[in-house]
Amino acid sequence: MAKYYVTTPIYYVNDEPHLGHVYTTIAADVLARYMRMNGRDVFFLTGVDEHGQKVQQAAEQRGITPIELADQVVERYQALWPQLSISNDDFIRTSSERHKRAVQAMWQRLVDADAIYKGMYEDWYCVPCETYWTETQLKEADCWEARVCPDCRRAVERVREESYFFRLSRYQQPLLDHIRQHPDFIAPASRRNEVLRFVESGLNDLSVSRTTFSWGVPVPGDEAHVVYVWIDALTNYLSAPGFPDDRYQDYWPADVHLIGKDILRFHAVYWPCMLMAAGLPLPKRVFAHGWWTVEGEKMSKSRGNVLRPAELLARYEADVLRYFLLREVPFGQDGDFSYDALRQRYNTELANDVGNLLNRTLAMLNKYRGGILHGAADELAVDRALISDVESMQRDVDDALRAQGFHIALERINAVVRHGNRYVEENAPWVLAKEGNQARLDTVLYHLVETLRLVAMQLWPFMPGKASAMLAQIMNDEVNVSCWRMSEHGGWGLLTRGHQCAAPRPIFPRMEA
Ligand code: MSP
Repeated sequence: MAKYYVTTPIYYVNDEPHLGHVYTTIAADVLARYMRMNGRDVFFLTGVDEHGQKVQQAAEQRGITPIELADQVVERYQALWPQLSISNDDFIRTSSERHKRAVQAMWQRLVDADAIYKGMYEDWYCVPCETYWTETQLKEADCWEARVCPDCRRAVERVREESYFFRLSRYQQPLLDHIRQHPDFIAPASRRNEVLRFVESGLNDLSVSRTTFSWGVPVPGDEAHVVYVWIDALTNYLSAPGFPDDRYQDYWPADVHLIGKDILRFHAVYWPCMLMAAGLPLPKRVFAHGWWTVEGEKMSKSRGNVLRPAELLARYEADVLRYFLLREVPFGQDGDFSYDALRQRYNTELANDVGNLLNRTLAMLNKYRGGILHGAADELAVDRALISDVESMQRDVDDALRAQGFHIALERINAVVRHGNRYVEENAPWVLAKEGNQARLDTVLYHLVETLRLVAMQLWPFMPGKASAMLAQIMNDEVNVSCWRMSEHGGWGLLTRGHQCAAPRPIFPRMEA
């Protein structure tokens, strides 16, 4: 069985989950569900990033140990994911033994490859961002005078310490070759160009150990050093599937790392270079999505507008949120979250289009035929056009999701739903019923129900609860859609003559202002 390995970033434990974390994890979940439905052996990984100075300091401020802080925040994440129907197969903590072992094995491989050497590190450092800056970078960003971080504008500190270095510079040309030979390696295309320009401008060796704090994985053989948090963090993608034991090869290389645009350089430059040095295959793809603003403003603690999942889930069902986040903004672009936009999308696309098609179809089927399908008689051109639209939608959704085009997939499904509603108008089943044209009435109803069934299957990865409810009415039975497979259930015409559907119960009631 072909495998599919999808990851989210591992989230820092010095903050609570927010909209940004929810977004990537939902996107990964949709891919995982879709690929399982398509018969792939899926490994869907998420987790938390627990080490580093930031976490150590946040814990000190609260008068607890780093692991106590991590334990508290981890619980939040682990409680949250089921509420959002996240179906991750594993949850990695960087404080776990299995992870530390993997990081140390990775380190050893880099040492064995002569890709690590000891030197002296001196630079500017932003503690909150855990990022080192050179004087040139600060000058370029107009941050030199104020000595502040180009990302967060908080004060940077001068640090001078003994450090191990990774020979990043050695991999500049191999990385450029790889990116050029694999046009799909970094997406979207604008990000790929950004990375190419960065790598072309030259890579400096990377400081990869610290002596200024202790909350991390010790460097093998030199315990005064801990492994730099990004080397530690990135290795999670290997430790979860079992590295250094051979079984990591069951899933590695990852099919796609989903990340936010702010951590692209780590995933598309440092990580592939480390892997090349260690003699390991590179991930097939790194997709960097954009950032959300909230009601037009940047999310920030100081503005007090950080959208927390609890607030969102108090207002909306998880499925509605999942739908909105992936439909509203083309994956890869920045977008704005607003309650108005959410309500509008929901009302037009889900309540008016999908909900209406389901309700009217099942209502007519029940009213005219006691809820029973009587199969399709002679097909007309309009019927064949509907079938072929459904079938081409399935192919288009497949293409879209293979390229992480969530919004394209949803728009394509919606187009079929609109086609279904037009088909109702054009064929006016109420007229057929009145005229007593039973054969044509049955044919029309059959095409509508089959369309809805296959639409619900495609919607399921996005809205597992809502789509299951749709299918429960269509099948007149509770269905466990996670066991459904496209190869078995995805073909047109599987509902048989005599199949009983349930009476409609509204699944997408209109949302008032
Ligand atoms: N721990 C690192 C990742 C290590 S992966 C080997 C990290 N953690 S984080 O918790 O700060 O951020 C995780 C993700 O949240 C990033 O992908 C980031 O892009 C995303 N987001 C943070 N704010 C966001 C928005 N406002 N909108 C969308 N995503 C955002 O970075």
